[in-house]
Amino acid sequence: MRILFATGNLNKIHEAKAILEPLGHTVEGLIIDGNRPEFIEPKELGLEHVAESKIEQALALIVGTEFEGSSILVEDSGIFIDDFDEWPGANSSDIEDELGLDGILKLMVNSELRGAEYRAVAILSNGNDEWKSIGICRGELAMKIRGTNGFGYDPIFIPKSGDGRTYAEMKKGEKDMTSHRAKAMMRLVESLRAPSK
Ligand code: IMP
Repeated sequence: MRILFATGNLNKIHEAKAILEPLGHTVEGLIIDGNRPEFIEPKELGLEHVAESKIEQALALIVGTEFEGSSILVEDSGIFIDDFDEWPGANSSDIEDELGLDGILKLMVNSELRGAEYRAVAILSNGNDEWKSIGICRGELAMKIRGTNGFGYDPIFIPKSGDGRTYAEMKKGEKDMTSHRAKAMMRLVESLRAPSK
């Protein structure tokens, strides 16, 4: 299937390609009139609501374009820190911009609990049928920034399924075997074989 990923985040597109292309799909970023879509995000209502809003906005954007009827993918994701009652969640990118990773680690100097998880909600729609899936990746926050790969919180996120390295310390492709995004997207394409909701 040709999947058009409606996102302004090129890192997400690279990861989706690495996850879905070995399964026989193609992934391209959706570009309309030379621009990647920018969405209004109702963050206060959580990831799933944001993802639902993104798919509605994406489908509205492609009406009357060559992309009408194509399979459009959207995703909303974030990190949830156990010690902060699931914060920052849907506000992850804003908090990353405001505090930086160093600022987040400073908030945690007295925390004994370092558990956290990444979550992603992915939705695929061709305008008639819609499929939705959720992926969760448990882990913990490192004591300091480590590694330069990946994006966002990857230099401070140590996945539970790994060997103690942060995602940013892993080689290209390793994150895509276990991440929240990998789980959500693999589930999504598996569910394509079942009737849509
Ligand atoms: P969104 O574009 O509104 O879904 O925001 C996602 C934000 O959550 C990113 O900008 C990062 O701050 C964080 N995030 C989500 N997934 C990841 C990931 O795979 N690695 C690192 N940070 C992530």
